[in-house]
Amino acid sequence: MHNILVTPGDGIGPEVIDATRRVLDWYGKNRNFAFAIEEGLVGGIAFEKTGRPDPDDTILKARRADAVLFGAVGGPQWDKLPFNQKPERGLLRLRKDLELFANLRPALCFDALKDASTLKPEIVSGLDILIVRELTGGVYFGEPKETTTLPDGQKRAVDTQVYTTSEIERIAREAFELARLRGKRVASAEKSNVMVTGVLWRQVVSKVHKEEFADVELSHVLADNCAMQLVRNPKQYDVIVTDNLFGDVLSDEAAQLTGSIGMLPSASLGAKDTNGKQYALYEPIHGSAPDIAGQGLANPIACILSLAMCLRYSFARVDDAKLLERAVERVLAEGYRTGDIMQPGMHKVGTTAMTDAILKALQSLA
Ligand code: IPM
Ligand code: MG
Repeated sequence: MHNILVTPGDGIGPEVIDATRRVLDWYGKNRNFAFAIEEGLVGGIAFEKTGRPDPDDTILKARRADAVLFGAVGGPQWDKLPFNQKPERGLLRLRKDLELFANLRPALCFDALKDASTLKPEIVSGLDILIVRELTGGVYFGEPKETTTLPDGQKRAVDTQVYTTSEIERIAREAFELARLRGKRVASAEKSNVMVTGVLWRQVVSKVHKEEFADVELSHVLADNCAMQLVRNPKQYDVIVTDNLFGDVLSDEAAQLTGSIGMLPSASLGAKDTNGKQYALYEPIHGSAPDIAGQGLANPIACILSLAMCLRYSFARVDDAKLLERAVERVLAEGYRTGDIMQPGMHKVGTTAMTDAILKALQSLA
């Protein structure tokens, strides 16, 4: 029995999670996938109901679960809350408390969508890159992180960028291991020209490479140059490994290459403990999209593809993951489009009809 915690959260989170639960039910009925679902509150909705965006109860449930399926958090109604009560804290606490240090963000351009990108089709067609973002360190969590008032009355705010050798080693190993299963090339992005954390990053990645992964090709790239190369010639990359903040920025950029941020899944993984247990959280990277929330318009594909990642990484169901990815490819080839990826001549649908189409494709491909 696989225990899955779903945390729908805010905005379009509940809609895309509902769609994904329908797909899970399909796997339960048709693919002998036995699972139990718990629900957890997170984000703005959790703040409304419990006074905290990151309830202890949700963290506890997440620890008990084999995998977490996360919707989205945030919305304009919570913008004015104090920093540590903002919806995003719910997600950040899950990452930190479960030590989900490895964030896998594939950017894959489906053939049917190569014209939906804002870049020329020949630049993005066939694109298949993987951003491996360090997720529990760096400037997101470094201390001090504070705002103080100076004697002259003005404010001074500090965030701290900090990395240790072991933090860099473990994310580098993750990236090299994943590269071995793909194109065997890793580009490591940092700012070693201006940041000492960047200097250490480059040294440690090089050492791990030399000692353990000499069969993989390693290159180093400055993060700003990487941002430029991603729009110039993204297909030069296979795996990009980078820190928390650069990974946040570069993965949004990579997402747009594929036509829509509504398409991209992610996995956040911890280390395996001695019993083989590995904490894992799967989430669409699009966020809560408050402007279209509650209208049945959201693209459920990113969340559904996050379930595919979950099947692959948490439950070793590689064939089932591939089946789901093929079903998504099929509905896109058939012309189904939600508003965010709509193109002339295609068949515009909402969340439910898109999910219906995916279920139908699963049924016929299975
Ligand atoms: C992401 C998001 C988050 C981040 C926010 C919601 C805290 O942008 O997952 O990329 O900055 O990490
Ligand atoms: Mg982001």
